[in-house]
Amino acid sequence: MGDFVVSLNNIKKVYRLGFSRRRVEAIHGISLEIESGGIFGLLGPNGAGKTTALKILLGIVFPDEGTGSVLGRPLGDRSAHHRLGFLPEQPYFYGFLTAEKALNLYGKFFGMDHDAIKSRSSALLDVAGLRHDSHLTLGKYSKGMLQRFGIAQALLNDPELVIMDEPSSGLDPLGQKEVRDMLLRLRDEGNTIFLSSHQLSEVESICDSVCIINKGRNVTGGPLSLLLAVEGVDRITLEGESPEALGRLEPLSVRVEQAEGITVLDVESAGVYRALDAARELGMGLVSVEPHRRSLEDLFLETTKETSD
Ligand SMILES: Nc1ncnc2c1ncn2[C@@H]1O[C@H](COP(=O)(O)OP(=O)(O)O)[C@@H](O)[C@H]1O
Ligand SMILES: [Mg+2]
Repeated sequence: MGDFVVSLNNIKKVYRLGFSRRRVEAIHGISLEIESGGIFGLLGPNGAGKTTALKILLGIVFPDEGTGSVLGRPLGDRSAHHRLGFLPEQPYFYGFLTAEKALNLYGKFFGMDHDAIKSRSSALLDVAGLRHDSHLTLGKYSKGMLQRFGIAQALLNDPELVIMDEPSSGLDPLGQKEVRDMLLRLRDEGNTIFLSSHQLSEVESICDSVCIINKGRNVTGGPLSLLLAVEGVDRITLEGESPEALGRLEPLSVRVEQAEGITVLDVESAGVYRALDAARELGMGLVSVEPHRRSLEDLFLETTKETSD
């Protein structure tokens, strides 16, 4: 099991339904390994077994077969639980509490002392972009704000690993971007995040590594940069040129060229959003992004087709 934060080894799970004990084979054999630091995505269509796999890690569901570990402890061992954070797929929060009061309450559940709750809540409300709305009751929050609050809540006890089930599902594009930015800030602060998603663009833009599953089986996985780089790089064309832009974009690119007021950079697929963020900060207009390689969507469709009936 080595130094992995999470490892699952050939996990199988059958649910039994109703009086007839009808079998629903949720997971037929999933293996994965997650290293410390970064964002790991468990990717698959609805019904692939993502939530079941997460519940197995959390000790809520017991596997029928297979082994695994979470933070160095075997599956089901409760001693790892206080070192984990969890955001369920459909979190429920008390609508009559303000964000501040709700975090205070959760902090007490975790057994944190008053000062620790205060300083940690304050930092997390900043990361979540909820500082100015922290006095509002959660009932007045938008879906996106609630989701960011949920992520803050999952991180309150400063967990070594935070597990999130579909953190962006049901959000509009702006809400998704705000959640994505929050996750990237948390990653940059050194957190280890394990999220499940069926949204390819989300996974492609924020995850460092992925495991793709379909119908309860592994399809493919690994560092996203390796999985997608097969057919090369993306080309981003921007308005404007300057030595400052060149210096800033060079480390993010495979190649940069500037001519006649236009900057063209070839960027590794997984780094496109980072380069676009840098371009936006530099105030450069976006002309085009051309895919010269297979996208996660292509990879996903190719690989899931191979494993379907
Ligand atoms: N509690 C349960 N009882 C019976 N079947 C379940 C239960 N939870 C999930 N399933 C079934 O297991 C399969 C995988 O579900 P799930 O893990 O929720 O997938 P995902 O999160 O990827 O959408 C689905 O066929 C689902 O219907
Ligand atoms: Mg699910």
